[in-house]
Amino acid sequence: MTTYETIKTQLHITPKTWLVTGVAGFIGSNLLENLLRLDQRVIGLDNFSTGKKQNLDEVRDLVGSNQWAKFTLIEGDIRQLDACKNACRGVDYVLHQAALGSVPRSIEDPINTNENNITGFLNMLVAARDQKVKRFVYAASSSTYGDHPGLPKVEDAIGRPLSPYAVTKYVNELYADVFARCYGVESIGLRYFNVFGPRQDPEGAYAAVIPRWIASMIENEPTQINGDGETSRDFCFVSNAVQANLLSATTTEPQAVGQVYNVALSARTSLNQLFAMLHERLLLAYPHLREYKPVYCEFRSGDVRHSQADIGKARKLLGYEPTHTVEQGLDEALEWYKSQANDNGARIKDGMTATV
Ligand SMILES: NC(=O)c1ccc[n+]([C@@H]2O[C@H](COP(=O)([O-])OP(=O)(O)OC[C@H]3O[C@@H](n4cnc5c(N)ncnc54)[C@H](O)[C@@H]3O)[C@@H](O)[C@H]2O)c1
Repeated sequence: MTTYETIKTQLHITPKTWLVTGVAGFIGSNLLENLLRLDQRVIGLDNFSTGKKQNLDEVRDLVGSNQWAKFTLIEGDIRQLDACKNACRGVDYVLHQAALGSVPRSIEDPINTNENNITGFLNMLVAARDQKVKRFVYAASSSTYGDHPGLPKVEDAIGRPLSPYAVTKYVNELYADVFARCYGVESIGLRYFNVFGPRQDPEGAYAAVIPRWIASMIENEPTQINGDGETSRDFCFVSNAVQANLLSATTTEPQAVGQVYNVALSARTSLNQLFAMLHERLLLAYPHLREYKPVYCEFRSGDVRHSQADIGKARKLLGYEPTHTVEQGLDEALEWYKSQANDNGARIKDGMTATV
């Protein structure tokens, strides 16, 4: 039995109370779904700035009414300390996901990103401290590697941040570290690398590359690849990120606490490979894609060429073992992407560039 399976069995037997911030977002709603399936009590906090009620409705339909009754939604903002304290009351574990994602957004509006990602984070840490939660697990980011050239990325070798967003995520790590030292708050940071899966927003100017490309292919709109397509990323299916959160919250290994971990596969997928994987899968259902080709354009300034995680630390200290490769994740998520396209029609705007 893997560590993850053991933990899931234990949680089933002895349910806990979890707070998921950003619960209406992509990763937050996947955490919610998985926790409810494990019979856990879940409090969710969200201000619906980028999250959607529809994501919560979808989880409700997937888990059924008995499990759904164990969920309490608080509509509130992490920039308000009272909302954070209220949400942390009686909670065992916090999974803090709420933040404004996207590097380009942070370049356009650094103040707003700072308020949500740093002030909001600090409020959540104070609330977790004051309400004496057992552990605070938070969404960190691979953007913290900045301009460090090393590959694969190892946790203790970071460079200079390349965007306001990256600064905020690094400051989160510094605050978490200092709260452990000053107040004994137990925390673990998870540096996600390009997470993908159901409920990741395919629309808008800051959409991530996989849902955006799928939406454009289904709608027979151009798919734009920045550069020659040999730029690569360590795409990580959301189930692997869920696993990392649950392992982090529950680990009883003292050495594992107070750390940051890469959450990825340790695999490099180029944009050309990704395009081919998506094309192959969608072609079966969408014959118009037979002659479909991507459009290559200029490299986007500031994009790092390659990103790949070393996941040895999470493997060793948390017992993390990814359950899904990129292909397995795409296979699992494909029906969701297709249903989105069928339900909504395309609302792809603002050109076809996508954030990698
Ligand atoms: N998706 C990725 O590949 C990735 C990679 C690295 C890090 N992350 C981090 O993971 C976390 C979750 O990302 P996601 O992709 O699910 O994004 P998302 O935008 O889908 O979810 C974020 C959620 O937080 C909520 N939120 C934002 N500001 C808030 C506030 N002030 N108060 C309350 N709620 C607020 C939003 O409404 C949304 O529901 C974020 O912290 C993000 O920075 C994600």
